[in-house]
Amino acid sequence: MKFDFGLVGLGVMGRNFILNVAENGFSSIGLSSSKEKIKLLKEEGKDFDIDGTQSDKVFIDSLSTPRKIMLLVPAGNPVDSMIDRFLPLLDHGDIIIDGGNSHFDDTERRFKYLESKKINFLGAGVSGGSKGARYGPSIMPGGNKEPYLKIKSIFESVASKVDNVPCVAYLGESSSGHYVKMIHNGIEYAMMQLISESYDLLRRGFKKNNDEIQKIFSKWNDGILNSYLIEITKEIFSKKDMETDNYMIDVILDKAKQKGTGKWTSQNAMDLGINVPTIDSAVSMRIISSFKDQRIKAENMYKTQNNKTSSIHITVEDVEKSLIFGFIICFTQGLSQLRSASNEKSYNLNYSEICKIWRGGCIIRAKMLQDFMNAFDLNSELENLLFDLNIKEIINSNIESARKVSIYSIENEIPLSGLLSSISYFDSFKSGNLPMNLVQAQRDCFGEHTFERIDKKGTYHFKW
Ligand code: 6PG
Repeated sequence: MKFDFGLVGLGVMGRNFILNVAENGFSSIGLSSSKEKIKLLKEEGKDFDIDGTQSDKVFIDSLSTPRKIMLLVPAGNPVDSMIDRFLPLLDHGDIIIDGGNSHFDDTERRFKYLESKKINFLGAGVSGGSKGARYGPSIMPGGNKEPYLKIKSIFESVASKVDNVPCVAYLGESSSGHYVKMIHNGIEYAMMQLISESYDLLRRGFKKNNDEIQKIFSKWNDGILNSYLIEITKEIFSKKDMETDNYMIDVILDKAKQKGTGKWTSQNAMDLGINVPTIDSAVSMRIISSFKDQRIKAENMYKTQNNKTSSIHITVEDVEKSLIFGFIICFTQGLSQLRSASNEKSYNLNYSEICKIWRGGCIIRAKMLQDFMNAFDLNSELENLLFDLNIKEIINSNIESARKVSIYSIENEIPLSGLLSSISYFDSFKSGNLPMNLVQAQRDCFGEHTFERIDKKGTYHFKW
């Protein structure tokens, strides 16, 4: 008897994923250099058809062909070295799936390399953290369709389900799966930034305590903001530190770390010539957060003026509405970037399908994804989510609150970089006339860089 599925890397994600596969009735074998991890896998999987080994040869020989091997190892060199270790042992037609957060350029390179060796390669983003891996992630696979069809039944069984529809779909050629996962993470960064800004408003602006903030997020989660990130946020505010009995949120240092996927999104947006300022500002805020010492020094130097009167009054509902506005804008930016990349790289992406598989299992799952899905179902060629009439209505009923909250934040010295970027994205997008004629004039004036005219075709230079 040979195993249906092999998984390399038995860390938390890998172990949970293979247990999920085995529980769904597919016999599975894991490969790891660690005896302890194999022991743990066998213990946790004692009720399933599961095994583990430290030997590459035993692992490869135990799999039915074409072999379906998923790598859940850290992105970068570990993926290349596993591929090189396996190559001499594999047969033509075997399938390697990289389930990590690999950069799409690496996936493209590996796809071509393995194609030349007649080995199939799928780059599949997997989202949902350790619990998602065990009980239902969202899976974003890309590569050739034929090998995907061979792994489809396994992926559809293990993926999260929304209305019985699995949160996995074949996304397109080559690196499309990892590209979509990168955009997922860019949106994730932006949503997290916007949520933390709302927290700052509630805490610094409204002087709410953690219990009150917990209740507010809980109420928000019952409305249009309903999402995984709001749900975990609400939970976070109720947890206490066992050591000090303080709220956990208050003992965590305010320096946000990052592994790079948000930064890749921003970097690639620049390369594509597409603007995603809310995602950019989320990356930038993580960076500024790391300068804790300088921030404290500056805080002492530029004291907040306490006895100021605000020209504007805002309510908690205004904060909720500005978060709704911000969420829509960050999805808008991420989906626009996908559209641009799809054209550039011929991924031929289906945006309704992407919104569909993001509705469950992944970190950015949110009720509003149903609206986005409907928008692309209505018009698969939609250039920008903001052109959808239902989205227009949601934007129109929330934008005034977003504007009020941003004025309040500036007057009260509360940095809302994500919200301000979102408003500015929206206002620029809906400005038929931007002052870039002046930038063109300046470029032509100092460097003879030429400009186009509004009244006739061609390129011109003026003797300034
Ligand atoms: C997911 C997450 C996952 C990971 C992030 C964290 O979809 O399950 O996105 O992939 O937790 O990459 O990223 P940072 O460490 O950069 O915040």
